[in-house]
Amino acid sequence: MSYFQRHIFFCLNQRDNGENSCAQHGAQAGFDHCKSRVKKLGLAGPGGVRVNKAGCLDRCAGGPVAVVYPDATWYSFVDNEDIDEIVESHLKNGQVVERLVLPANVGK
Ligand code: FES
Repeated sequence: MSYFQRHIFFCLNQRDNGENSCAQHGAQAGFDHCKSRVKKLGLAGPGGVRVNKAGCLDRCAGGPVAVVYPDATWYSFVDNEDIDEIVESHLKNGQVVERLVLPANVGK
């Protein structure tokens, strides 16, 4: 068994050269909200869920993006309601939130 049941990584990359990056689209707010919800619901910790910051995940066109492992499910989110749904449905109950899944052809 793995140390954490699920791990979610949020791209928080900030580019200052004018190129698109997740930080320009609310990535930090999504990360902060996810971290707080996971903690509040008692999901954090060994055997549970870990919420981590990441650098560029190379799928910037869909930003802000996050990926859940071990399921390798990629999400693009807009607001706190999206994050709430990812936490409740996927991180807590293992059900993918299909409406937020990043299309396979979205890349850099
Ligand atoms: S800047 Fe977020 S995936 Fe590249």
